[in-house]
Amino acid sequence: MASILDAPFMVELIRTTTNMYDHGWDERNGGNVSLMVDEADLADYLDVENVQRRIPTGFDAPTLDGRYFLVTGTGKYFKNVQYDPAGNLGIIRVTDRGRTAELLWGYADGGTFTSELPAHLMSHAVRLSQNPAHRVVMHCHPANLLAMTFVHDLDERSFTRTLWRMCTECIIVFPEGVNVLPWMLCGTNEIGEATAEKMKTARLVVWGQHGIYGAGADLDETFGLIETAEKAAEIYLKIAHLPILQTITDAELKQAADAFHVVPRAGFLDV
Ligand code: 13P
Ligand code: ZN
Repeated sequence: MASILDAPFMVELIRTTTNMYDHGWDERNGGNVSLMVDEADLADYLDVENVQRRIPTGFDAPTLDGRYFLVTGTGKYFKNVQYDPAGNLGIIRVTDRGRTAELLWGYADGGTFTSELPAHLMSHAVRLSQNPAHRVVMHCHPANLLAMTFVHDLDERSFTRTLWRMCTECIIVFPEGVNVLPWMLCGTNEIGEATAEKMKTARLVVWGQHGIYGAGADLDETFGLIETAEKAAEIYLKIAHLPILQTITDAELKQAADAFHVVPRAGFLDV
């Protein structure tokens, strides 16, 4: 059997968590990533009958039974993932209507999956029901988006419009806009349910005074969504205190959306 460390999905996740750390999005153990892996892609690397531990999840996710996820561990530092994948990551199979995670590989020091597994799995379930190609949920703490949640109102239309106006690309990359949750206690089923509900209408969900969640069909798409929103937030913070002499108008935003064949969230533009 080939080494799991050579599996393309493993190599890509390690590169992505390293890149997230290098972007400053994941201080200490901040952030978590889950990647849904197809059984066929595991077959060369793992005996899926060899369950190492059964770990209760504490919530239901009935539609995910039989699905496999590569998930970052709780308390683990993204800066260390590349040096010790088996200590910082795990591969689980969801069973028992979501109530049990069967550990197939990883969490080698006796650890377990991220404390944010509720938000991850509940979001996977929602996004999968909308897009069969969906695979990734990513959470991190990018400084500019986080800072913006202190000084900008958290109304989703208003927050989205501000981000869209900061770079021409934004409306093309996330035409559905961003959804926003007020501060809530992290690591709970409640914030998981609230995040998944917000994932019904957008792939980006900002957590007030905490960070952001992104969802996508692959690691690049999901990283790119967060990267683009974070760049827009950075520009907002650079200009918010200065006199604004020109902006991108709603008519121009619509023009950009039309040119790139995307449909902006209904009601978010005044055109
Ligand atoms: P974990 O270490 O449990 O993944 O938590 C990090 C985090 O960002 C919580 O929101
Ligand atoms: Zn967090």
